Amino acid sequence: MVVPGSQHKLYHPPEGLQKDAHVPDFNCYLELYKKSIEEPDVFWKEVASDFYWKKPPTGQILQYNFDVTKGNIYVKCMEGATTNMCYNVLDRNVKDKNLGERVAFYWEGNSPDHREAITYGQLLGQVCRCSNTLKQMGVRKGDRVAIYLPMIPELVYTMLACTRIGAVHSIVFAGFSAESLCERIMDSQCSILVTADGVYRGEKLINLKQIADEALEKCREKASATVTRCLVVKHHALRTQDGDVSNKLQTPWDAACDVCWEEVMGQVSEQCEPEWLDAEDPLFILYTSGSTGKPKGVLHTVAGYLLYTSLTFKYVFDHQPDDVYWCTADIGWITGHSYITYGPLANGATSVLFEGIPVHPHVGRFWEVIEKYRVTKFYTAPTAIRLLMKYGLDPVQKYDLSSLRILGTVGEPINPEAWHWYHEVIGQKRCPVVDTFWQTETGGHVLTPLPAATPLKPGSATFPFFGVEPTILNEHGEELEGEAEGYLVFRRPWPGIMRTVYGNQERFESTYFKKFPGFYVTGDGCRRDKDGYYWIAGRIDDMINVSGHLLSTAEVEASLTDHGAVAEAAVVSRPHTVKGECLYCFVTLKDCREFNRTLVDELKRQVREKIGPIATPDFIQNAPGLPKTRSGKIMRRVLRQIARNEKDLGDLSTMADPKVVEVLFNHRCETAS
Ligand code: WTA
Repeated sequence: MVVPGSQHKLYHPPEGLQKDAHVPDFNCYLELYKKSIEEPDVFWKEVASDFYWKKPPTGQILQYNFDVTKGNIYVKCMEGATTNMCYNVLDRNVKDKNLGERVAFYWEGNSPDHREAITYGQLLGQVCRCSNTLKQMGVRKGDRVAIYLPMIPELVYTMLACTRIGAVHSIVFAGFSAESLCERIMDSQCSILVTADGVYRGEKLINLKQIADEALEKCREKASATVTRCLVVKHHALRTQDGDVSNKLQTPWDAACDVCWEEVMGQVSEQCEPEWLDAEDPLFILYTSGSTGKPKGVLHTVAGYLLYTSLTFKYVFDHQPDDVYWCTADIGWITGHSYITYGPLANGATSVLFEGIPVHPHVGRFWEVIEKYRVTKFYTAPTAIRLLMKYGLDPVQKYDLSSLRILGTVGEPINPEAWHWYHEVIGQKRCPVVDTFWQTETGGHVLTPLPAATPLKPGSATFPFFGVEPTILNEHGEELEGEAEGYLVFRRPWPGIMRTVYGNQERFESTYFKKFPGFYVTGDGCRRDKDGYYWIAGRIDDMINVSGHLLSTAEVEASLTDHGAVAEAAVVSRPHTVKGECLYCFVTLKDCREFNRTLVDELKRQVREKIGPIATPDFIQNAPGLPKTRSGKIMRRVLRQIARNEKDLGDLSTMADPKVVEVLFNHRCETAS
C-alpha cells in the first residue's frame, strides 16, 4: 500500500461558510463526535426526533453483536418503532413542513433541451399513483421489485412507491447486461420488473426493454422465473428528441406480461395510505461485486438508513434551505440511493436529477448545468474530474460557477492532481472539497470531512463521521495505534450499516466479520498519519475499482473462461489516467486456438455482454502459461507487475515454473487492446 507523502499543507474552511454552518468548527465536530461515541442513544434519539414514528422505539436505539465468536452478527436500530420511509421524505415535508411547492428535483435530460421541475407536492402525487399501480399489479409488503430504469423521474417515483407500500426495491443499474439483470432478479426472487422502452446515453440509443426481455427469458430458461409482470415506462423526452424512435426501438410487447406505465398511472388514485413498517423491516437490496464472482445483495433496513443518510447529507454537505444540490451519480449505485433520493429528500432539499453524461453534447456539460441551476453543492467522482481535466480550462471558463459553495467526491481515492484542479479550477479555491469514503455496505459516509469544520489534506478522507469508530489492524488482527498502515475496520455499527446479505447470512458473516472477530472489515487498506488523518489506499481483496465502480476479478475471469477458446484467465488491475484502475487480462488459450485480433474483440464483447460495458477489459494479453505457486495458486502480484512492466519481480522462489515470466513479458500489451 503506497500512499502519497506525509508533508501536507492544510486547507482551512473558508470563514464565510463557517458562519451559518451546522458544525461550524473543529471543536464542535470533536464534541459531537464524543457524544456520538459515548452516548449513542442520546445522540441518535435527537436525530430521530426530527422524523415521524407511528410507534416509538421500545428499547435502546442501537443494539448489536459484532463478534462472530459470541453468536450471530446483528444490528438493530430503533427496535419496536414503526414508521415509513416515504412518509418521512415526502408527506412530512409536504404536510408538516409546508414544502409542497418547493422543487424536489430539476430533471435535466440527456439533451439540454429536456428539463422538468418536480415539486415535493407533485412528487408525492406521482409516488402515490405508482404505489397504487404496484398494488394493483399484485405487489404486497415484503415483495421484491426489480427496477431497471434510466435516470428519469419515474425511477424515483418507483423506488419511493416501493417504500410506501413496504415492498423492497432492488435497483439494477441500467448499464448492466441481460445476464447480470437476470442473476439479480433470480437471487432476490423479484415478482415485478419495472423498466423503460429505451434511453439515449450521449449519442447512443439503448433498447432497454429488449435487454429486460432477454433477462426475463434467461430467468425462464433457468426454470425459476419469478417475475410475473413487467411495468414499462415510455421515455417521453426520447420521443421529442427523435420522432421515429419507436421504429428504431421496435419495442417488443407481450400483452400477457407487459403493462404500460402511462395507461395505468392515469387510472389510479393520487392518494395512498403508507404501510407502517417495523424499524428493522427491509428497505431495499442493492447488489455489489463479491470476491467469489457472485454479486452480494446488500440489504438495508428502514429506520437506521433513514437516520444515517439524512444526517450525513445534512452535515457533510452542510445543507441549507436555499441550496441547489447536484450529485452526478446514477441512482443504480449506492451513491444515488443515499445522496440523490433518500438523504436529500429527508432534508427537504432541492436537487438536480441528471440523465446525461459529462461529455454530451459537449465537454462543458457539467459546468453548463451548474450555471443553469445555480448549483451550490456539487458531488461527483474522481474519474469524472480526471476525464474533464483533460479538456483544459476553456470548457470551464465559458460558464459562471460562482454559485458553488461545497464540492464533494466519492467512489475511489482522489489523486492530488485531480484534487487541486477540482479545488482551484472548479471551486475557485473558495469551496472545500469533501472526500467522502464509504461503501454500498456502509449505507452512508463513514470517513469524511465536514466542510466548515475539518482542515483538509488533499487525498485524505480525514476523520470518522458521528457514531463511526474506525481502527487499523495488522495482518494478525492487532490494533495499531498512532501512525499506522493496515486493514481498515470498524469496531461498532452506526444506524446505516447493512444488515445482511440477502438470503445469505453466512456469506454476510464470513465476508465482513470472520477475518477479525469483533470488527466489520471494509476490505480497504488504510494509513493513519501523525495527525490522525485517514488515507484510503485501495482494495486489499480481489476487487478492482474501475471509474469508481467495484468489479470482481473472479466475475470477469469467469466470463472470459466461458469463451470456448479460453482455458484459463487471470485479471489484475493496472493504473489508468482517467479510470483510476483498469482491467488487464491474461488468457491462456486451449490447444490449437490462435490468439489474434478477432479473438480479442470477441472476448471483449463477451465480457460486455455477460457483465456490462463498465467491465470491458482495456488489455487482453496472450498467456501461454500463468505464474503459479507449487500448490497451483496464481501469483497475482507477479501478474500485476508484468501488467505495469515492472521488471524487478522480487522473490520468485515459490513459483513452480519461473520460465513463464519471460514469455509473459514478451507478449505484454504496451497499448490498450
Ligand atoms: C472505494 C461507493 C477512496 C473503496 C460509495 C470502497 C473510496 C469502495 C472512496 C466502495 C474514497 C469509495 N476514497 N476510496 N473517498 N469512496 N471508495 O460499494 O475501495 O461502490 O471500499 O460504494 O470504493 O464502493 P461502492
